[in-house]
Amino acid sequence: MPSLPVLLLLAALSVSHSEYQQRRTRLRQALPNSAIVLLGSPDTSSDPRSPMLQEPNFYYLTGWMEPNAVLLILPESEQPDEVLFLPPHNQRQERYEGRRAAAGDSGVEALTGISRVLSAGIWESEVRRLTAGLPKLHTLTQTPSAETVKRAVPNTEWTDAAPAITRLRMVKSPREIEMLQRSIDVSIEAHLAAWKRVKPGLHEYQIAATMTGVILERGCERHAYRPVVGAGPDSAILHYSANRRKMERGDLLLIDVGAECACYAADITRTIPVGGRFNARQRELYEAVLGARDAAIAAVKPGESLGPRGAIIQAARDYMDRRGPQVNGQPLSKYFTHGIGHHTGLEVHDASIPEEPLEPGMVITIEPGIYIPEENIGIRIEDMVLVTPRGAKVLSSALPAGPSEIERRLAK
Ligand code: GLY
Ligand code: MN
Ligand code: MN
Repeated sequence: MPSLPVLLLLAALSVSHSEYQQRRTRLRQALPNSAIVLLGSPDTSSDPRSPMLQEPNFYYLTGWMEPNAVLLILPESEQPDEVLFLPPHNQRQERYEGRRAAAGDSGVEALTGISRVLSAGIWESEVRRLTAGLPKLHTLTQTPSAETVKRAVPNTEWTDAAPAITRLRMVKSPREIEMLQRSIDVSIEAHLAAWKRVKPGLHEYQIAATMTGVILERGCERHAYRPVVGAGPDSAILHYSANRRKMERGDLLLIDVGAECACYAADITRTIPVGGRFNARQRELYEAVLGARDAAIAAVKPGESLGPRGAIIQAARDYMDRRGPQVNGQPLSKYFTHGIGHHTGLEVHDASIPEEPLEPGMVITIEPGIYIPEENIGIRIEDMVLVTPRGAKVLSSALPAGPSEIERRLAK
């Protein structure tokens, strides 16, 4: 039995049934006169290395984490107007893995927050019956589950539900922002623990291990993505995650680590000097990336976009080229070889419609970086930012990024 503080924390971290209900209502409004059929993730419990990761759109609309569920959303005028199908009890499996909910359990509607719960054994025939005569059927046509759904109701044209769900997911509710903030706060704690530990002679994986310890100790489920802890030459590899190098004094150490807590993903990067001091070359390049970050954040506001020709990335590139040094006779932004950022939420690279203008309530990363393998230098600074009506609020600002502040912290 978890202790009382842990239980309170878990309760404090959940999204309410009524918020999930609101999301389904808003989806219904976005897709009028339609049925929407979504399959949850299959059961992975026979593979001991695979955690149950719910399909994120299904999770967004239900908060339901058990496998092999099916959600049917119908127009409000129908009765029932939504159904959750759950697999029947399997006593042998439940002996190994614990009890699961099933249709017919007392209180299953209150548990799931969905007013009609039926057995997944009949989902295909029920979906056929309940959707008969409806003008439009939607599912996630681009996912592996689409074929299964299409087979259940053959000879019907299925339309993709993803754009409508994505539009909802892109703007976070106040509750989601709180949950993201919690993942960010835990990630910051992990970064600061890493800074305390880092020193020449330790391996990159030991820094990753310290950070994993904080993330799990705080009750979060996992890393939101493979931890990137890259020193020296490894700092210049964008998605390096082998984490095997023994760190040396004078290396730059790029740490891109974020926690997933109650299903919400943080994504934060800092670059620090192993041994405690940036050398002059590292510092001039670092300051150029930091200034680019600040310029990009200043350019975030509703109406702008994260696209490759948008004002946000342009602000970062301009800063690098105006204020940073040339490298090999080239403007510094030539070495900035990825996008300026992405949405975060239930997924670290969250559902989004490319180049869609930003709106208040969206949560994005701003992550300028430069990578110069011939100098063993990679520098990325990545923050999480909430788009507000007038601009941006940096949700990860509690993690220092100024070079002198980083040096002071490393000296402690
Ligand atoms: N950590 C993955 C990314 O920065 O996009
Ligand atoms: Mn990122
Ligand atoms: Mn990242």
